[in-house]
Amino acid sequence: EKIHNIIFDNSADGSAVVAKEIADLIKEKQAKGESCILGLATGSSPIRVYRELVRMHQDEGLSFSNVISFNLDEYLPMEKDNRQSYHYFMHEHLFNHIDIDPKNVNIPNGTVTGDAIIEHCLDYERKIKEAGGLDFQLLGIGRTGHIGFNEPGSHHNSATRVITLDHITRVDAAPAFLGIDNVPRRAITMGIATVMSAKRIVLLGWGPNKADIIKKTVEGEISSQVPATYLQEHSNCTFVLDKGAASEL
Ligand code: GLP
Repeated sequence: EKIHNIIFDNSADGSAVVAKEIADLIKEKQAKGESCILGLATGSSPIRVYRELVRMHQDEGLSFSNVISFNLDEYLPMEKDNRQSYHYFMHEHLFNHIDIDPKNVNIPNGTVTGDAIIEHCLDYERKIKEAGGLDFQLLGIGRTGHIGFNEPGSHHNSATRVITLDHITRVDAAPAFLGIDNVPRRAITMGIATVMSAKRIVLLGWGPNKADIIKKTVEGEISSQVPATYLQEHSNCTFVLDKGAASEL
């Protein structure tokens, strides 16, 4: 397997290292007068990375003025100002606290309906390409082995599209939605090919609940049944784990 693992005592230490890598990349691009294209993730896993980036902005003057961001996914249907939306999450945890240009923030739009959805997905792919492609993609991992919302069965050639959420994924999301009946059944997600096109990928895994899926992902056969296993074929992918998540490796 090609995935490189780094194991930390705790998620705070791992998150600090990942935030530093992102900050260094932003600065390196700034020095060259280039944009930095970041693929960003939601969920509990990246929260500390975002907190550290906000701290660097506030304490060290790290500027995000050259950053163009593309989030992995959004529920469908989902209003932007809904507290469960990934739009809300990203603004709450990162965008409201840094100097990124709002027009450089891209998040799949959970309010599109009907035929406009397909056009929206194509447009999302187009925007990533026009920006120059993803320099860095941050990932968490779901218990089904999904990255973004690429659930089991996702094809390695898949692009940004609508996906039906796995039951396990909806169970895991239920507490935040105060009951599974309130969890949307679908989402818009970047595809496997979209994620794999990133020049650099870092996946975060914290806690013993992730140990089983991390083992399957790192040591298992590459399979559409565990979409994260596709990452084994990426030439520059690192898993940043704590002891709990790495406990079965
Ligand atoms: C959701 C997101 C994924 C995320 C996963 C794990 O399903 N769409 O991008 O990786 O949750 O979430 P957490 O980091 O809270 O464990």
